[in-house]
Amino acid sequence: MANIIDGNKIAQDIRNEVRQRALELKEQQEIIPGLAVVLVGEDPASQVYVGRKAKACAEVGFISREYKLPAATDEEKLLKIIHKLNKDKSIHGILVQLPLPKHISTENVIAAIDPNKDVDGFHPYNVGGLVTGTPQFVPCTPRGIMEMLARTGIELAGKEAVVVGRSNIVGKPIALLLLAQNATVTMCHSKTKDLPTVTGRADVLIAAIGKPHMIKANMVKEGAVVIDVGVNRLENGKLAGDVAFDEVAAKASYITPVPGGVGPMTIAMLMQNTLDAALASE
Ligand code: GUN
Repeated sequence: MANIIDGNKIAQDIRNEVRQRALELKEQQEIIPGLAVVLVGEDPASQVYVGRKAKACAEVGFISREYKLPAATDEEKLLKIIHKLNKDKSIHGILVQLPLPKHISTENVIAAIDPNKDVDGFHPYNVGGLVTGTPQFVPCTPRGIMEMLARTGIELAGKEAVVVGRSNIVGKPIALLLLAQNATVTMCHSKTKDLPTVTGRADVLIAAIGKPHMIKANMVKEGAVVIDVGVNRLENGKLAGDVAFDEVAAKASYITPVPGGVGPMTIAMLMQNTLDAALASE
């Protein structure tokens, strides 16, 4: 039976560290990290995430500002708000919750955010830094996964790492981060041939697909480290990961549960990125 990596515990440790450092920053330099979160529309899942972000800010002693805009908001109005936040000295991090309504260009909106306040790490400048190995801001979920692996003492150099899923938010950045730690990285996606053979080579398997319980025991090597990024809502209302937990846990050496695995790490790393932005703003 695998060791379960407790994301709630690691995320709490990180929030405690961030709160401590933020306290010092306030005492020594009178800087309070500030995060602006912009939500367009009424997507229920997004509303839950935005609420959690505000709560985490309060816990670590940051200022948080929420902009809740109607779904019909036009791009120009949203860009104006971003430009204002770019100039606002009390705001160190800007996050625009995705997905945006279809009539707004996600690309234009992300490009409008000052790269020095891009705590999501989605701006092309920050994506470029990740590719060249000189990252300024790393997207929160991949950064959270790397933190989990590091704090669990999992060595990556020379290991076979397989990433299933090629999103800009998780798949692509986690592949680059694993590569930067000298893993041998393979990326899989919906067109990959014979997926079980490829995933079966993985010492470290990252499942970021968005299909409940897709990774079965026959796709996993004995002793593998399995990181489940899936957050799938089942018809019965329960959350399910991309990994068939029970059968895979019987084979893996380490595994992350859903919920309580990668999920809580994302917001903890958002706090860390916002702190980093405030520290760099001095
Ligand atoms: N939607 C789903 N994940 C994310 C994220 O990490 N950042 C933002 N801005 N939106 C998201």
